[in-house]
Amino acid sequence: MSARIMSGRPVADAVLSGLGPRIQALVDAGHRPGLGTILVGDDEASAGYIRMKMDKATELGLTSPHIHLPQDATQEDLVAAIGEMNDADDVDAVLVQHPAPPQIDFDAAMVTLDPDKDVDGLHPTNMGRLALGMPGPVPCTPAGIEALLAHYEVPVAGHEVCVLGRGTTLGRPLALLLSQKRPTANAAVTVVHTGVPDWPEYTRRADVVIAAAGVPGILKPEHLTPGVTVVGGGVRYEGKKLLPDVDESCERVAGAITPRVGGVGPTTIAMLFKNAVECAERRAGLAA
Ligand SMILES: NC(=O)c1ccc[n+]([C@@H]2O[C@H](COP(=O)([O-])OP(=O)(O)OC[C@H]3O[C@@H](n4cnc5c(N)ncnc54)[C@H](OP(=O)(O)O)[C@@H]3O)[C@@H](O)[C@H]2O)c1
Repeated sequence: MSARIMSGRPVADAVLSGLGPRIQALVDAGHRPGLGTILVGDDEASAGYIRMKMDKATELGLTSPHIHLPQDATQEDLVAAIGEMNDADDVDAVLVQHPAPPQIDFDAAMVTLDPDKDVDGLHPTNMGRLALGMPGPVPCTPAGIEALLAHYEVPVAGHEVCVLGRGTTLGRPLALLLSQKRPTANAAVTVVHTGVPDWPEYTRRADVVIAAAGVPGILKPEHLTPGVTVVGGGVRYEGKKLLPDVDESCERVAGAITPRVGGVGPTTIAMLFKNAVECAERRAGLAA
């Protein structure tokens, strides 16, 4: 059996093209959306990610004010830069590139970000909003996975979804999202982790398995039921080499599966811009 490959690119393209008219409506109302970015230090890969996001912002019609702090920036410097973005009238959403140099307590700094400008949706206030089903920026990778499953018409509502990993950027918010009462969610979600040594018992009975562990090759064919849908969210980098959670051989068992590259990456970036536009709509009083 050969699995259907669920590329994230057409999903991302659909999300981004849907933003076009919304960005135009904001501009027509005199409110050009702005995605502020902050980079701390000289890490080449991080600088590349920020450049790519700033270029995409420009292409979509957003402004992208940028603050670059030096490698030896202090915690106070980062908190001050975040404060500047919080106060800037032309900034609707803010992205602080991770990782930061070791002298920085990234999570402590991020708590000072205005939750209404939190483009990653990971501020404690936004995790609370997610848990309570209140409007606000939703974590980008989980939101992208919901969009991906919907795009490929994978039955989720009323079905068993097993999430491998309960981390705060992926597994935990994803479980909250897919258990919400909505046609593209509404799933029976199980979350497994190191506290569940017999986790394969759970993945084997699921209709959809989402790997969110960050352990290369952890998910193998013997952990799956034939025909299952598999989404690979967890990855680890060794240098520039990307090592996914999902073992390549899972393609032989799955009915549908994300590719090793170009799966949840493109949808995550698309959701970041969706969040930025929605932050702008809320600030401009144009939110649906
Ligand atoms: N593609 C993207 O854009 C994107 C975005 C966000 C995150 N990610 C990736 O998603 C992954 C998860 O991110 P995160 O921040 O949520 O990670 P995290 O906080 O490190 O969480 C990892 C989770 O996996 C579980 N786990 C680890 N080893 C396990 C094992 N051997 N058996 C069972 N469970 C195991 C851990 O269990 P315990 O809780 O018991 O320790 C934990 O719940 C990472 O690889 C990250 O790079 C990708």
